[in-house]
Amino acid sequence: MRICMIGSGYVGLVTGACLAEMGNDVVCVDENADKISMLNRGEIPIYEPGLKEIVNRNASEGRLRFTTDLEEAVGKSLLCFICVGTPQDKDGSADLSAVLEVARRLGDIMDGYRIVVDKSTVPVGTGEMVRATIRKRLEERGLGHVEFDVVSNPEFLKEGNAVQDFMRPDRVVIGTDNVRTAEILKELYSPFVRTTNNPILVMDIRSAELTKYASNCFLAAKVTFMNELAILCDRLGANIDLVREGMGTDERIGPRFLLAGPGFGGSCFPKDVQALIATARSNNHTLEICEATWRANQRQKRYVADKVISCFAGEDLSKVTAAVWGLTFKPKTDDVRESPAIDIINYLLEHGITVKAYDPQGMPNARALFGDRITYAQDAYTALAQADCLIIITEWNQFKSPDIQRMKSLMKRPIVVDARNILQPNEMRAEGFAYHGIGRL
Ligand SMILES: NC(=O)c1ccc[n+]([C@@H]2O[C@H](COP(=O)([O-])OP(=O)(O)OC[C@H]3O[C@@H](n4cnc5c(N)ncnc54)[C@H](O)[C@@H]3O)[C@@H](O)[C@H]2O)c1
Repeated sequence: MRICMIGSGYVGLVTGACLAEMGNDVVCVDENADKISMLNRGEIPIYEPGLKEIVNRNASEGRLRFTTDLEEAVGKSLLCFICVGTPQDKDGSADLSAVLEVARRLGDIMDGYRIVVDKSTVPVGTGEMVRATIRKRLEERGLGHVEFDVVSNPEFLKEGNAVQDFMRPDRVVIGTDNVRTAEILKELYSPFVRTTNNPILVMDIRSAELTKYASNCFLAAKVTFMNELAILCDRLGANIDLVREGMGTDERIGPRFLLAGPGFGGSCFPKDVQALIATARSNNHTLEICEATWRANQRQKRYVADKVISCFAGEDLSKVTAAVWGLTFKPKTDDVRESPAIDIINYLLEHGITVKAYDPQGMPNARALFGDRITYAQDAYTALAQADCLIIITEWNQFKSPDIQRMKSLMKRPIVVDARNILQPNEMRAEGFAYHGIGRL
């Protein structure tokens, strides 16, 4: 099939490359000319395992192209995917300006049947707005007779595992009111579920739009429940790891998404929780669990920062240097959007603590945020030199089995706040470290 992806970020680029991998003819469009130039040079603007190989292979075999020219891309495509950002607006709701701008441009360009597939995460009712926006422009151009369909096809990939997730989705959700369009989308996705037999779920557009928010908010609540419980474990002298095992072996609960940590972040969970809260409020409803999830998550980041500060009770904090391992919101990505590291570091800086950070992939994006308010180390051990404590915020594999003696020899004081519970408390204490996990003895 001939396809264009409008927006070539984390979702658009991965989707475009994976659809090309199955033999489709894909053009990725972006308004960011630098991004497109990079892609045309064979460089990948983001860090995502396996993406470079699949992009370059499909580009060199002629199935994947990159352009800033929307008109040319739409001209040849049956399917036009919208993959632009939907960031949080001032009132918490999703900012749809990029999505609706794309819809207007499509209405300016289209001259025959197209299927417009919304893959951006958008609130219920956006499909209808996209349809009305395109229709209005077509009518203004005297092309009111041109037919088109709008489909909601939310994306569930996880950064850090995006290619794998797209190639073997747990399910594909297709929201449409047109049976023929549903069949075309099913055909497009059938190679991705052939070996797993995972379902392609066809539903109405509104339910599809809501499914994405429901999934992200449920996961955010699940992880937040464990984070809250971890604080209680600290108070009670219980161990969250053991509690997790005891809970997670119950089939009704399941073992995943139960790891306590510094709070959720990323480009999706925070804005999606806020957006669903806003949707509910504007429909005269309160989602109590989502509202509590948001508050508890804010508290969690503060809890980690306070744990650090309490290690230096009574001291002049302006003389304290904290090493930070991990700036991205999760491992295997360069994405620092809404990372808990941001709030934690800002809180420490407000208290006068000096921060020296290291992250395997997130440093350029972190530098754009923090500038010279923190310093950036070349590697994990350099960050520890003369540090009064270490805070582990992201669970990169390389932080999981460090050389403890080397750590101790580099640090001014052997104090570790392990906000991901990745080190062994007994081992650390045996080496003379003051070790503080989250909800662990
Ligand atoms: N990142 C994820 O893990 C993830 C997962 C599932 C769903 N989503 C959703 O997918 C959407 C995109 O997220 P993302 O992380 O890929 O965002 P992103 O910021 O990485 O990419 C968006 C891209 O769209 C481009 N763009 C904006 N306006 C444009 C226009 N008018 N024409 C052409 N290009 C334009 C931007 O330059 C940018 O490259 C969001 O709604 C997000 O919530 C993201």
